[in-house]
Order: sequence, then structure tokens, then C-alpha cells
Amino acid sequence: MVFFNKKYKWNDGPYLILKGIPETSITICWLTAKNKNSILLWGDIESNLNQTELSIKKRFHSITIDNLSSDSTYFYTIKESFSLYSIVTVFSFRTAKVDNNNLEFIIAGDLQPKNQVTLNTNNIMAQQINKENPNFIIQLGDLVQIGSILKYWHFLMKSLPLMASSRPILPAIGNHEYYLFHRNKTFRMFFPYRFFGGKGSYYSKNIGNLHLTFLDPYDGGFAGMNSKISNKQKKWFVKDLEKAVKDGAGWIFVILHHAVLSNGEYSGDIKLQEWILPIVSKFDVDAVFWGHAHLYEHWQYQYGKNGFVINSDDIIGDNPIDFFCIGSSGASPESNFRLFSHKPFKRKILKWFNLERGVVEKKTTIQYPWNREMFFEGKMGIDQFKKDDHHYFHLPCDKQGNYLDNPGISYNTESKWFGYMYGENTLHYAKVKIKDNNCIISIHYVDGSILKGPDGSLSQEFIFKMKIWSV
Ligand SMILES: [Fe+2]
Ligand SMILES: [Fe+2]
Repeated sequence: MVFFNKKYKWNDGPYLILKGIPETSITICWLTAKNKNSILLWGDIESNLNQTELSIKKRFHSITIDNLSSDSTYFYTIKESFSLYSIVTVFSFRTAKVDNNNLEFIIAGDLQPKNQVTLNTNNIMAQQINKENPNFIIQLGDLVQIGSILKYWHFLMKSLPLMASSRPILPAIGNHEYYLFHRNKTFRMFFPYRFFGGKGSYYSKNIGNLHLTFLDPYDGGFAGMNSKISNKQKKWFVKDLEKAVKDGAGWIFVILHHAVLSNGEYSGDIKLQEWILPIVSKFDVDAVFWGHAHLYEHWQYQYGKNGFVINSDDIIGDNPIDFFCIGSSGASPESNFRLFSHKPFKRKILKWFNLERGVVEKKTTIQYPWNREMFFEGKMGIDQFKKDDHHYFHLPCDKQGNYLDNPGISYNTESKWFGYMYGENTLHYAKVKIKDNNCIISIHYVDGSILKGPDGSLSQEFIFKMKIWSV
């Protein structure tokens, strides 16, 4: 057991979270190397920070300010010298608009700074995300390399404030936050959201007309490399989506760390697929985002359209749903693991109910490693410090969308089934722009340009129209 308050030995931060109501509230977090009183000054005029808050005798400080005006800029400073800001610095943030249907936010994947290379990639990425000036940032988990070792949280703090001192960050919990002893206490101290359930770190948030549901794939106990979700969370998830639909959410995004589908060094998680696919289809959510596999992948899958569902009483989904793996926004890319070298996974068996025949059929799929020869050169791929940086890519179908029945090309016999569109092993982040009834999701390299594939013809930019939910 790591006694957090006795061990953290750096002055780190600040960063913002969104514990309260986005229109009128902000939570400012920072850490001190000693258990001490620390002073926060804030106000709506930069030169006159006339409000004082005192955080008493702590290492981990978090102060929530409520009753702010919506759509307003505020300034704050903390009377500490931080690792990233050696002189006392004034930061600013802006509260959300009421009934906002004009939002811009970033979705960042795995960070895991663990050595000089990944400290650098995280630093470059955080600067780029800050440059995008989003309203807020979603992070898909695996913020740190080993959650129980505080040094790795300090590593995270070497870049996180660059993007999250001026806007709130909403994280999902990853398996690395649970390492080594399947504990999430440190994550919950760094990000003191109002989590549902005693142990799980799942929660949801409404921002303007957007509903975000953050799942904790590991709250049901240790399960090796697999997810294990408690029944309590499963019930909560359905209720949460029901409420979002009832309350008239304009957009619903589901956020989780664990890869539901994957062509990375591990395969997708069958138990997770069996549970989540019918639910996100039933509620016709707009998109599902995960990380975990350190690469970019995109699927467009309409549940049941191919004639197969998981439960016999499920119905065909109203629309295709976009599933995105935003897997590395600083973390060492999948090619540094077993992307090219894992043995074919043949063990996958998923029982599907054949809607036409009314019987259950077992489907076995095989997943092959990526082909090391399929790459193009550019910058900001696996090693953005080199000119001949390789972008390994995965294009399972031809440009007309025909899936080629060749495992050397498709890598996975379920690519067609789940509508695998494109994958690239590169550092990246997603940008979401919501304006009135439209939403644009685009994927970007570290330099801010849109991820476009080997010949520039696969621009990863997707336009969504607002759905009318009928559930
Ligand atoms: Fe990861
Ligand atoms: Fe992970």
C-alpha cells in the first residue's frame, strides 16, 4: 500500500477538473512536496485576484469554486513554485455557456510517460493540445505507467499542466492506473471526480447538449489483461444512458480505456463486446472511444445488419456506430511492442444469434500481426525526431470498401464483420467540434495536421448529424 500523503515529493500542477456544473464551477488541483497550507488567489480581472482560498495541511490540494458566471473568463494563481512553473504564474480558464451547442474538445489517448523519449512525446503533444485551445480535454486512460509508483505521476505532471491548467481534463481510468496491486486510490486522489459506486471510477457528465459516459473496465476485480466490470456498473451504465436520452441529450459519447475491438498486439475483449455492443446499439450512441492499444483504429459497425446479434431478443441497430481507438497521445506506439510479431490469435470464439435461422452460431476468428512492410514515411509517426519516420498502416479494404479475403492484408478475419475502416501506428489525438446539429470528429498528428493515410486520400474526418432518439 502506498501512503500517498507521505510519499509525494514534488510541487506539481496546477490542473483543472470538472467536478461540479460546467457552467458555474471549476476545481483547481495541485500538489506540494510537503504537507502544508497553500494559497490560491483568483478573480475575474487578471491584475486583481481578489478572492483567496486556503488549502490546509495537505500534499494534494483541490479547491472547487462554485457560483461562477457562465461563459466567463477567470484568472488564478497559486503561491507555490512548481516543477513546470518556477515563478508564480497566473493561469486562466473559461466557464461553459448555458445550453451550449457549440463545443470544441480534444480526446487524447494513452500518455504513459516512462522514459526520456515518452516524456518528450508527451510534452510535445500537451503543447499541441494546448494550442488547439479546446473547451475541455477527455483522456482515455493509462495516464501513467504504473499507478502505484508516485514517480510516474510526477512524470505525468511534467506535461499535463501544459494542456490542463487552462481547461478541465476529464479522464477515464486505465489498467496502468490500477497497476501493480489493482488499486485505484491514487487515480482518485489526482482526479477527485464524484464517482458512482464505492470502488469503481465511473461517472458521467453533461456539458451543453453533450452527454459523456466514462466507464471503468476494471472495477469488478483483477482479470489479467481483460476487463472485468461489476454488475453494479453494468446497471448504472444502462440507467445513465436511459436518463441521457430522456433528458434530451443532443449527443452521447461513451468513453472507456479498454479496447472493445483491436488489431493491436492483443485482440479485442470478447466479454466486453458481448456486453457493450448491444447496449450502445440500443441507445444508438454517436460514438465510442477507447485507447489501450497504442495506435489509431476506426470501425463503423451497425449492430445486427449482417444478420447476427449477440442476444436472441436484440434488434438491428438504427444506425452504424463509429468506434475509435485513440491509442497514443504520447505513449510508446504499438510497433514498439508485438504489433508485427505476435502469434496469430485463433482462440476467439463469439456466439452469434443468426436472426434469419433463429439459431446460435459459433464464429471463430483469426487475428494476424501487422505487416512491417506496409508503411509510408513522414514525420510524427513512431519517432518524430527522425526524418524517415515510419507510419505503419492497416487498410483492410480497397477504396471501394471491398474487404479483401487475404489475411496478409486484412490481418483479422472479423475486419469486415465489424467494419474496420483504417488503422495507423502513429502518435495522434482526436478533435471534436459540435455546432448546432452537426458534429465533426477529426484525427490529427502531433503537428496538428489531419491524419490522411499513405497517399493522403484517407482523411480521417467524419461528419455526424444529430440523431433523434426513439428509445
Ligand atoms: Fe496503454
Ligand atoms: Fe491500457
